[in-house]
Parts: sequence; structure tokens; C-alpha cells
Amino acid sequence: MNKLTSLRSTIAIAALFIAVQGFAAGGGAELESADIDPGNISSLQRGARNFMNYCSGCHSAQYVRFNTIGKYLELSEEQLVDNLMFNAEKTFETIQASMPAKDAARWYGTAPPDMSLMARAKGADYIFNFLKGFYLDADSPTGVDNSVMSGTSMPHVLWELQGYQRAIFEEHTEDGVTTHEFVGFEHATTGSLDAEDYDAFVRDTVNFLAYISEPIRSERRKLGVWVLMYLIVFWVIAVMLKKQIWKDVK
Ligand code: HEC
Repeated sequence: MNKLTSLRSTIAIAALFIAVQGFAAGGGAELESADIDPGNISSLQRGARNFMNYCSGCHSAQYVRFNTIGKYLELSEEQLVDNLMFNAEKTFETIQASMPAKDAARWYGTAPPDMSLMARAKGADYIFNFLKGFYLDADSPTGVDNSVMSGTSMPHVLWELQGYQRAIFEEHTEDGVTTHEFVGFEHATTGSLDAEDYDAFVRDTVNFLAYISEPIRSERRKLGVWVLMYLIVFWVIAVMLKKQIWKDVK
């Protein structure tokens, strides 16, 4: 392998790393970016509180222990018990939904899925848009439909904060075929938060969901940097060694 090819393979390895990272970040093209900040501990703390208050009634996160969250979010045991552990007694317990899944399935038609890995499965941007996408629909049993998951059986649980919105569709008729294109939302009722604060509320919640679905992500990032540095250093040594070994061979 000459110098150029080994340089090329180093670049290829580096490019692969970057590509894999980009792919893991994911995200559909037409979704608004959640723009979460995984390193922002206060955002994660607010997100944890939001989740326990507004989601854990129906959704569990059964791979997530309170003491793990507490440690990462820099919460004392007392803060953990007072602010997050409404239906748990011991800090090593996992997050259980208050409503038994069987009852929830009967009430809503679909059992509310566990949230431990939801952000990894669907992507942070998807959940961000899902929580912002509920709109009034008289034909739905919950009174709402959703712009990213049409026909969802989840009710608009954050209606007090966001208010209810109406979806505006534009009608297009082409060759006798009528289609409806979604163009945006308008407020039907106002909630206790304005649009900007509601976005922030949802962003914190999604940030927390992204964290629990991958609590070791930040450590893995750090490790990745070391691996790359190792590869570069090793490559330099290999090139020097090769020069040394081959210097007398013509
Ligand atoms: C009143 C019960 C209830 C509450 C409270 C609730 N959900 Fe749900 N959620 C559901 C049900 C039921 C489904 C299943 C919907 C379906 O598959 O149609 C669901 C589905 C979801 C999904 C999956 C959507 C998909 O595309 O599969 C996400 C994400 C979600 N909920 C997030 C949340 C978050 C975040 C909160 C807190 C802000 C929350 N939910 C609060 C009942 C609830």
C-alpha cells in the first residue's frame, strides 16, 4: 500500500464515521427540526418533569430507572422523590405508567407504547412534530387528528398548554381528481402557553425522550473522538515504520 492509498483509506474511514453519525441522527425531510440540545441538563430536567406530569399517566419507560436519570440530571434523591417519582417508591424502580396497559388499550383502542426507545425508533424530529401536530377533527373519537400520524388514537393531552388548532387544507382539482394539501395550522382556541413557549416545552420533553432512549450516547461520542485520534496516530506511526523498513529496498 503506497502513501496515497493509505491516505485514501484513512479518509474513507473518517468519511464512513461521519456518514454513520449523520445517519444515526436521522430525520424526515418535511419535518420541522426539534433542535434539541442533549448536553443541556436544565432542559433535560424540565423534560423529565414534563414527561412525568403529562405522559407517564399512559406511557411507561420500563427500561429507565429513576436513579439513573437522577445521577445524569444531577438531582438529589430528595429532588427525585419530590419532583419525579409520583407512583414509585424506590429510586431503583423503572418508570411505569399509572394506567395499566390493558385498561389503556380498552379505552384508546391501542395500548400507549413504551417510551424507553421511542426517540430512537421514530426520531426526535418526528415526536416534536407529533406533539405539535394535533388538530380538531369532528370525525375522530378523540376529537382530534394528527398531521404526522393520521388516525392516531392518542388524545391531544397538551391542549391546555397549546390550545386547539385547526388544520388548513388547500383543495386542488386536476383532471377531475380532487386532492387536499395540508398548508398549515390556525388557532381555534388559545392555551396557557404562546407558540414559542409551547415549542420550548415540547423541545425539552423530546430532549428527555432522546436522552432516555440513548443514555450512553454522550459517552459514546467521547469514545468516538478517541478512536479517531488513535487511528490518526497509528497511521502516522505505520507510515514512519514502513519508510524505515523499506528504506534500503529498492
Ligand atoms: C391519555 C393517554 C396518553 C397520554 C397522557 C399520552 N399519550 Fe402518547 N399515546 C397514547 C396512545 C393511546 C398512543 C397510541 C396511538 C396510536 O398508535 O394510534 C400514543 C402514542 C404515542 C406516540 C407514538 C406515535 C406513533 O407514531 O406511533 C408518541 C411518540 C407519544 N404517544 C408521545 C407522548 C408524549 C410525549 C406524551 C406526553 C406529553 C404522551 N404521549 C401522553 C396515549 C397517551
